[in-house]
Amino acid sequence: MSETPQRVALVTGAARGLGKAIAQVLARQGVALMLIDVLADRLEETRAELEAAGVRAAAFPADISQRANCVAAVEAAVAAYGRLDVLVNAAGLMRFNHAVEVPEDEFWKIMQVNAAAPFWFAQAAIPHLLEAQGNIVNVLSQSALIGTAYIVPYSMSKAALLQLTKSLALEYADKPIRINAVAPGGMMTEISEATRPPADADFAKIVRYSGLRPPTDAAEVAEVVGFISSPAASAVHGAIWTADGGVTAG
Ligand SMILES: NC(=O)c1ccc[n+]([C@@H]2O[C@H](COP(=O)([O-])OP(=O)(O)OC[C@H]3O[C@@H](n4cnc5c(N)ncnc54)[C@H](O)[C@@H]3O)[C@@H](O)[C@H]2O)c1
Repeated sequence: MSETPQRVALVTGAARGLGKAIAQVLARQGVALMLIDVLADRLEETRAELEAAGVRAAAFPADISQRANCVAAVEAAVAAYGRLDVLVNAAGLMRFNHAVEVPEDEFWKIMQVNAAAPFWFAQAAIPHLLEAQGNIVNVLSQSALIGTAYIVPYSMSKAALLQLTKSLALEYADKPIRINAVAPGGMMTEISEATRPPADADFAKIVRYSGLRPPTDAAEVAEVVGFISSPAASAVHGAIWTADGGVTAG
């Protein structure tokens, strides 16, 4: 590629939904992008759209439930652009189910994508982020902060990601890197397309975490990620920034 861009971001889950919206916000900030997702065709569409808008965007289609793919994606970003300033862990997997009926493979897949992959990405990216004085933004959920019925493994995985954020922030408290998280509430994305609450679910328990306001747009949450990952947020480190329309306010 041509000259080294000023800032480079790697965004997981960038094929659609919030990850794509984050890529669009970062693109407006002039950030060059490495886009990761398992949905190769949708990822290429996103990449082509950004490129057509004049943005430097490369894609690395990969299943991030495998550690080797996470490491390879970081290496691809550095090989393409010569630096890495921002890691956004936005990919996520959610499945409704009764806790007692969750199959073992579904449990581990959720843990791998939502909790383990951000750890592997961080592990591979941190040396480059330190060099660039960059930052990490992990996408949590309101499910990391409050109990959410019928999505117990998802909730567990997001709570793990919350502690990855806080513990890494402490471990790197004296180093030139910022580590933060954004915790969205309900957004109208395709995450729930493959999954519905069990037919016999008690909806009163789902209403408790559905909020009093309409679902947020992914683009609104992407703006928060765009700010936190930017140099303007230099004071923000170790933060869990909610963007849930007030759900976790009580
Ligand atoms: N939509 C909501 O209501 C909501 C609420 C709170 C938090 N979130 C979080 O926001 C983030 C984005 O979700 P979204 O709502 O845009 O949903 P989405 O399903 O549109 O986006 C998630 C993306 O992650 C990708 N992904 C899943 N498994 C993968 C794997 N193994 N390897 C690579 N990529 C993989 C998907 O292909 C998809 O493109 C997720 O972390 C999600 O948990 C969503």
